[in-house]
Amino acid sequence: MTKFFVPPIPLPYVDALKIELPQGGFSRSIPASMADSNAVGKMEKIVALCKRRGFIFQSSEIYGGLNGAWDYGPLGVELKRNLKDYWWRCMTQVRDDIVGFDGSILMNRAVWKASGHEATFSDPMVECLLTKKRYRADQIEPQSGTVYAYEGILASEDEIHKVKGPHVTRAEFPGKIVFNERFAVLVPKGKPAQSADKIARQYYDLKYKDFSYELRPPTSEPVENTTKFNPENGAVLGEPKVFNLMLKTYVGAVESDDAITYLRPETAQAMFVQFKNVLDVSQKKLPFGIAQIGKAFRNEINPRNFTFRSREFEQMEVEFFVKPGTGPEWLEKWLVERLNWYEAVGIPRAKIHVLTVPEKDRAFYSQGTYDLEYEFPFGVQELEGIAHRGNYDLTQHQNASGKPLEYFDEESKSKYLPEVVEPSAGVDRTVLALLCEAYDEETIKDEENGKEETRVVLRFAPRMAPIKAAVFPLLKNKPELVAIAKDIYKSLQPLLKVAYADSAAIGRRYRRMDEVGTPFGITVDFETLEGVKEASTSATGAPILVGQKNTVTLRHRDSMKQERIEISDLFSYLLAKVA
Ligand code: GAP
Repeated sequence: MTKFFVPPIPLPYVDALKIELPQGGFSRSIPASMADSNAVGKMEKIVALCKRRGFIFQSSEIYGGLNGAWDYGPLGVELKRNLKDYWWRCMTQVRDDIVGFDGSILMNRAVWKASGHEATFSDPMVECLLTKKRYRADQIEPQSGTVYAYEGILASEDEIHKVKGPHVTRAEFPGKIVFNERFAVLVPKGKPAQSADKIARQYYDLKYKDFSYELRPPTSEPVENTTKFNPENGAVLGEPKVFNLMLKTYVGAVESDDAITYLRPETAQAMFVQFKNVLDVSQKKLPFGIAQIGKAFRNEINPRNFTFRSREFEQMEVEFFVKPGTGPEWLEKWLVERLNWYEAVGIPRAKIHVLTVPEKDRAFYSQGTYDLEYEFPFGVQELEGIAHRGNYDLTQHQNASGKPLEYFDEESKSKYLPEVVEPSAGVDRTVLALLCEAYDEETIKDEENGKEETRVVLRFAPRMAPIKAAVFPLLKNKPELVAIAKDIYKSLQPLLKVAYADSAAIGRRYRRMDEVGTPFGITVDFETLEGVKEASTSATGAPILVGQKNTVTLRHRDSMKQERIEISDLFSYLLAKVA
């Protein structure tokens, strides 16, 4: 769901403390808001596998990284491309009512003024007074417990010369001065009260590192469901501040106000402002849609959960224009369509939660929104928003540009602004969901030495798998096997993404391919040369006669079952499985 600014929630407790927000930067870590230790473990394994096997790397890693930006390695890019290609095919190729589009990332600033992004595309942000880490105010989990409020610290009179400013001295205690630096800590139910002092000390130590001081005893007060404290350490959070999420830039040589524009925070707006052009050239009648895949940028306060919340990401969006009054019915149709699509890429229906976004949480232009959420190991989180945007966007752009964007309805001989239903999915989030869904571990017996070992396997739907099949000669020092294997590899290569591997024992080679989710292994063995020794059935169902040559072993990733297939049947067999 698009975020548009929600007015800040008043925080009476923090207001009463009159705490000033220290200035601070963003965290560079990947914070784990993970549900339990198993989930943390699974996520850590997925992140490690992504790096080890070349799916996803941290951007600018050798310079310490850049928070919220990621690079897709050789396998990650194939996975991402398969996902985008399949979406593109489903939206623009097999449907007659949607056309494709590729808008620019940089647009006239007027677009962002008219759409409302410049004024309102913001998040309320809070900052931890201790760590200076920033969080979205609306994402702080409510907590209950006891709040310990510290009025300040006590030091000896000798320390006074170190103090600058009037706010710190008060001669209430004989021979002592008071530093009136207020701070508060929430200790959740069941946690020891002393932990508050520990956190408070960290806070005062940072501020008064040259002083020897005593911590004044705090006052305490029970609280229920408060969102004013950092869930990671209990320290009080500062007041919410509005933070525009668009990344500003300048176009041209002069960094003046006139040159300002933004990296687009959604791909949608280009499709609205080009609605008339696309309609005219494609000669479509309503209902019709425009589909686009492309980068979007948001200066997220707290990028987290691996690629889930990034500052640079890709969206796959359709703006589907419909007759006024038919928006609600198209919203329902798109919900069904999109749920089926996720099943087709390998995310079971049971793992997708459909959230009917309540009116108070919807973007202000929305007349109805469904969020499709996936059960990530770190919680149930949004993959896609399907919104009935009414005619808000076309109205805004028509008014601001002065250019008519109306549709002429031949049937009723009238002009109007269509309504829009928008299924808007995240590429990176869906890639992450595919990885999470596919990741599996099982204990198996090594066929060669009989020892138990853990098999890591990515059970991607074959159409999503980065590599569709791997071709192996059983032995690398048998030129007859190598020649046939290379032949098969070369003949499949122009048609499908395939791999070739000849080093290590065949079991090891299978295992390496399992780990990156390759659904089929093709092994050229002695039976390929000499003929099959026992009667069997081929992968296509046809009987294979004893003594028949030119067959290979086809090994299935998920079941690890092996069967024989004729070399001439390989391509059609694989194509049917991966299309
Ligand atoms: N045009 C509507 C729109 O942009 P949105 O709900 O803000 O709606 C749509 O974004 C999708 O884009 C989300 O469901 C999510 O999959 C993806 N997305 C949004 N912000 C993201 C971020 N910071 N990192 C990764 N994906 C993001």
